[in-house]
Amino acid sequence: TRVGVVFGGVSVEHEVSVISALQAIKAMDDNQYEAVPVYISKDRNWYTGEELLDIEAYKDLKQLLQNAQKVSITKSDNGNVILQKDPVPKFGKRSVAEIDVAFPIVHGTFGEDGVLQGLFELYDLPYVGCDVMSSAAGMDKVMMKQILRDSKLPVLDYVWFHSSHWTDDSEDIITMIEERLGFPVIVKPANLGSSVGINKAQTREELEEAVEEAMSFASKILVEYMVQDMKEVNCSVLGDYEEVEASVIEEVLKSEEILSYQDKYQGGGKGADAAKGMESTDRVIPAPLDDKSTTEVQELAKDTFQILGCSGVSRIDFLIDQTENKVYVNEINTIPGSLSFYLWDPAGKNYTQLTHQLIQLALK
Ligand code: DAL
Ligand code: MG
Repeated sequence: TRVGVVFGGVSVEHEVSVISALQAIKAMDDNQYEAVPVYISKDRNWYTGEELLDIEAYKDLKQLLQNAQKVSITKSDNGNVILQKDPVPKFGKRSVAEIDVAFPIVHGTFGEDGVLQGLFELYDLPYVGCDVMSSAAGMDKVMMKQILRDSKLPVLDYVWFHSSHWTDDSEDIITMIEERLGFPVIVKPANLGSSVGINKAQTREELEEAVEEAMSFASKILVEYMVQDMKEVNCSVLGDYEEVEASVIEEVLKSEEILSYQDKYQGGGKGADAAKGMESTDRVIPAPLDDKSTTEVQELAKDTFQILGCSGVSRIDFLIDQTENKVYVNEINTIPGSLSFYLWDPAGKNYTQLTHQLIQLALK
């Protein structure tokens, strides 16, 4: 089975994706699969080749892309999905690789949000993970909250608006936020990952600043009630609509109140640790929760996954209000950093087994 591991992409999480994908390819080494690296550059070109497997090569991207083979995705006459050399007329229909199943490991917009999944649907190519609808619903924090709230799952109260509404009447929106949520609040672009553009606001002035910043990333803005005495825990779910299992829970420790992009990936966070193959210092596994809370989080994680219609492996992030002792679903990552392998490993499922199970789910 030839597995096209698609990574990189155009989102702000490009670099994290390279790390996650190269890890997964390495883990697949011990499987019966042939991994075909498919790198999407920030300018949206597609490349393949052995050169792409060396993380060090990404330091000189220009050189790397000269050495790698630029390709386009297409279907051969016998109906197989192939990567074909560019430019097409010069090389005729000579393909460089065939793919039986796609394994998207692209975080954020155009990768985790259903766009790439739609392309695979169009090519009738089986793929790992969530389908178009669940990917899109998981990526848009407002849609996700609406769907979960409709199913009576606990989500923090919120207000959302488009940037054009803000431009027209920010006073009105601020008043609504003040009345409904009070301060402090958390301001987020509705559809970005890795905490990019997320800020806390304690006053009207800070709210205005935070909204302006969020609007530089997205036109749909989410403002959420902020839990003051909170703990952040994450749980991974693996499976599909028929059958799911929940992983152990991790507690995420942070240096500031909101886990920033810096915390997550540049200062010894998941991505950085993963790259170095190191143990992390910013999370506790398993999270120190009592049995009741552990079960509650795991059940909520499975419900979230299935209500959104997910498959493959996702990581669901929770906030626990320690004063009220209440758990809230915060967000879902349908292509989580490092595919959450470190949450499956403690229970005896190693990264190789995880990738095997994901590919088998895709081919089911
Ligand atoms: N969006 C990143 C990769 C994560 O939270 O796992
Ligand atoms: Mg995320």
